[in-house]
Amino acid sequence: MTKTFDQWVAEAEAAAFSGWDFSFIDGRWWEPPCPWDYQALVTGMLKQATSLLDMGTGGGEFLAALGPHLPARTVATEAYAPNIDVARKTLEPWGVTVLGISPESMHAHPLQDAVYPLPLADRSVDLVINRHESFDAGEVARVLAPGGHFVTQQVGARDFEAINRRLGSPLPLAEWSLAGAQEQVQAAGLQVVQAEEALMTAGFKDVGALVYYLKAVPWQVEDFSVNRYRPALEALHREMSTEGPFLVQSHRFLIIAASAADAHANFELADDEGS
Ligand SMILES: C[S@@+](CC[C@H](N)C(=O)[O-])C[C@H]1O[C@@H](n2cnc3c(N)ncnc32)[C@H](O)[C@@H]1O
Repeated sequence: MTKTFDQWVAEAEAAAFSGWDFSFIDGRWWEPPCPWDYQALVTGMLKQATSLLDMGTGGGEFLAALGPHLPARTVATEAYAPNIDVARKTLEPWGVTVLGISPESMHAHPLQDAVYPLPLADRSVDLVINRHESFDAGEVARVLAPGGHFVTQQVGARDFEAINRRLGSPLPLAEWSLAGAQEQVQAAGLQVVQAEEALMTAGFKDVGALVYYLKAVPWQVEDFSVNRYRPALEALHREMSTEGPFLVQSHRFLIIAASAADAHANFELADDEGS
């Protein structure tokens, strides 16, 4: 039996969201896989790594999935306060140190290029991974050990922009794409060894899934509330009920970059590790 608009919304608003776990709306939305496989790429690179940093680990879900492959020295950063303890709990069984980063040092928009210091010593990490988290390329270059690698999958500025257009809200980012990010990485002295970008069709099957998503990802529509956007959401609900899913475009890009192999290695953490 199909639900009414109010039933979908009430259920979505009552549901919890924790860490970076969208299982509540499993099967009710989809994002196609990228043409590259970030997890497989990282898993392959872990074979060469004796130390790993995961930037912006969220609730630690992705890193935990790599558990058996993690090097003994694995650290993760997290700046969103509610997720620091979630990540610590998830990653404790794998011996991962989760470093809380001061929220003041975090960009208001987690997907934008950010300028914040990483709490790690120079040239101290073999592999820095970053899925859907902002980064300061200079900081990444600073902490990478000689011959180390940076692997990042980013959400581009065009991601899900159809939602903003339908709701009549400003787009979340003016510009963030492979070209600009690659420039930043190269300007930091890293050598880009793989770069890919893709636009793919994603979709929401019911308005409850869309509302849940927009509450979990508050930077997509910054002033989102169901009341504020009720007419547009009701129109989308009617469309989804009769015509099928609301299709949107996802925008992703991948950069793998290497640091020069000839610098001097130093596998020490900064004094404030573990804060
Ligand atoms: C897009 S998530 C990706 C997390 C992880 N790297 C992954 O791939 O699963 C990026 C960041 O958003 C943070 N985040 C979640 N909810 C947030 C909120 N309401 N405000 C700011 N950041 C939030 C997460 O803690 C995480 O660090």
